[in-house]
Amino acid sequence: MLMKAEELYRLACDMMKYSYSPYSHFRVGAALCATNSAGEEKIFTGCNVENASYGGCICAERTVAVKAVSEGFTHFHSIAVAGGESSPQDMVMPCGICRQFISEFACEDMTVILQKSGGLHIMSFIGLFPEPFCL
Ligand code: THU
Repeated sequence: MLMKAEELYRLACDMMKYSYSPYSHFRVGAALCATNSAGEEKIFTGCNVENASYGGCICAERTVAVKAVSEGFTHFHSIAVAGGESSPQDMVMPCGICRQFISEFACEDMTVILQKSGGLHIMSFIGLFPEPFCL
């Protein structure tokens, strides 16, 4: 049973507290539901991690993606993203690099869970990034 959208979004909000963002002051948290080749489900959580060398900043979405893949959880089912300067704001969309990065592991029916007008907004990943670069 895959984790519910509300629960995943709540975890993403919780992870904003660990955001290391002294440069942008923009906190982002993410929570990812993924499965491994044995079909086991696991939730990965993370945040954005910035660096004085700005190009070294890592978005919350890539943090969770790398945590999952490095443990063998390469099938992504849903990701929730929450961000803002202090509390979660509406529609913090995954950036272009993160969309490309996630596309490598996204299941056909992967969903993206965001906040909109105080409620949840659930989009298909394919709708968000229909034409990834592939080799
Ligand atoms: N950020 C994310 O964590 N995810 C995104 O999809 C967009 C931006 C972070 C990167 C940086 O630490 C801060 O937000 C401001 O760009």
